[in-house]
Amino acid sequence: MSEIYDVAVIGAGPGGYVAAIRCAQLGLKTVCIDAWTNAAGKPALGGTCLNVGCIPSKALLETSEQYAHLQHGLGEHGIAVKDASLDVGQMLARKNKIVDKSTAGIAFLFRKNKVDSKTGTGRFVRTGDNCVLEVVNGKEREEITARFVIIATGSVPASLPPFPVDGERVVDNAGALSFQEPPKRLGVIGAGVIGLELGSVWRRLGSEVTLFEPHHTFLAMADTQVAAEAWKLLTKAQGLAIKLNTKPLSMQAGKGGISIEYQDAQGTQRYECDKLLVAAGRVPNTADINAEAVGLKRDARGFIEVDAHCRTALPNVYAIGDCVRGPMLAHKASEEGVAVAERIAGQQPEVNHGTIPSVIYTAPEIAWVGQTEQALQAAGTAFRKGVFWFMANGRAQALGETHGFVKVLADDQTDRILGVHMIGPHVSELLGEAVVAMEFAAAAEDLARICHAHPTLSEALHEAALAALGRPLHQ
Ligand code: FAD
Ligand code: NAI
Repeated sequence: MSEIYDVAVIGAGPGGYVAAIRCAQLGLKTVCIDAWTNAAGKPALGGTCLNVGCIPSKALLETSEQYAHLQHGLGEHGIAVKDASLDVGQMLARKNKIVDKSTAGIAFLFRKNKVDSKTGTGRFVRTGDNCVLEVVNGKEREEITARFVIIATGSVPASLPPFPVDGERVVDNAGALSFQEPPKRLGVIGAGVIGLELGSVWRRLGSEVTLFEPHHTFLAMADTQVAAEAWKLLTKAQGLAIKLNTKPLSMQAGKGGISIEYQDAQGTQRYECDKLLVAAGRVPNTADINAEAVGLKRDARGFIEVDAHCRTALPNVYAIGDCVRGPMLAHKASEEGVAVAERIAGQQPEVNHGTIPSVIYTAPEIAWVGQTEQALQAAGTAFRKGVFWFMANGRAQALGETHGFVKVLADDQTDRILGVHMIGPHVSELLGEAVVAMEFAAAAEDLARICHAHPTLSEALHEAALAALGRPLHQ
């Protein structure tokens, strides 16, 4: 009889690979099944995040930001650069190298931690005291038996029937990470996180970028003051054309480009572009695992139904990451992966969904944790707020990056921090302190009484906490 694993993980994205490593660390005999192959047809662990998500997008954001800085950000320093040029091929090669290194890194970690790795598509055959999965890789088929299964199959781009992705002219995130040259005109359906990040990349490299967003509010999930500041900087200063309250209806692709018909308040309009990025959200990737046949439940949108501890309807099957409720974020998937592994090993871990940080890697960056001002108002919670602008921060002045602010929201009675919202230089890194503070149930006064190094951007968080107490020192 073939070996019985303690745990089989389906999917090796940041949810699945982290869960597999933690299971192995806890002494559980673990196998991780993953279907991803790269352009060369080779297995590439790391899922969406490493292959076509977090990592390659940040690589291109970095290159394009450095290029934009070289063109527009050095004059005030007295530095003149002549004939700066960008080799898009080299930019893509660098990005691909980072991806290859990162995915190979997961294979190394699997070997180091003695996680068995199987390439192919996994699906349930039957469940019970032990679960049986089949792994199909081309013509090869293998059965795997495990006491526990963790489903970490992630998500895929939502498709919009009028705008079928062909990978050439109409692309999703994967295609927009690999344009061989900046399109002259790039249309983007959806002014969400992907639209803004990848739209920024190509805008900085010279494309005219137009985003179509049916919602009448820009960045509805963010704090409204942050969203308003982002709107100003991304549209007026950086030239992203964002059309709110517009509904893209249909497209025609001809020799000259793509013609899009959309509806706005004035009626039906036309827009022409050379490439179209469809970035209208992502959907859980759960259709092919035979879920219902073995007693798993999926909701109307395809998310596997789980409780707060990622337990499914079956006692020995868990589900984590993008294929379950909650934000579609890599670190959320990983936290759930660790917690499930520890739960299987008999521990009682908790994931605090109230302190999962969010970051949008535009320039400047946008970052937040906890509740927004508008959510607190809607809930009728009495709160105090402290806002500190980077304009008054010495380090931001020295960097020449003075846009944006930090906002601390604290409970009016207890002073406990309820949310921290930032837009400004490197706030993705600054956010960590706010997450730690909230995780430790800190009050604004706790942050205000901590000594922050000078001159650092972190002083803006310190000052925002002081401002929430009504006693900022530098504004
Ligand atoms: P995934 O990463 O999607 O991995 C799932 C894996 O399971 C894949 O390898 C898939 O091939 C495999 N799989 C699916 N079905 C099967 C099956 N039946 N058998 C075998 N294998 C299977 N998040 C952030 O936190 N920060 C960011 O900066 C960020 N940037 C992003 C940028 C872009 C362009 C995109 C698209 C996403 C970004 N995300 C970011 C979101 C992040 O990528 C996801 O939240 C994260 O990858 C989810 O992890 P996961 O493990 O749940 O799923
Ligand atoms: P999103 O949910 O951020 O944005 C999608 C946008 O498309 C929304 O504004 C929505 O109103 C709009 N939309 C929906 N239907 C539409 C339609 N029919 N026509 C036009 N617009 C439509 O989703 P996005 O940008 O696709 O990203 C998917 C997910 O990936 C994000 O929600 C996020 O969880 C994750 N991600 C995270 C990043 C980060 O953490 N920095 C970066 C990129 C993605």
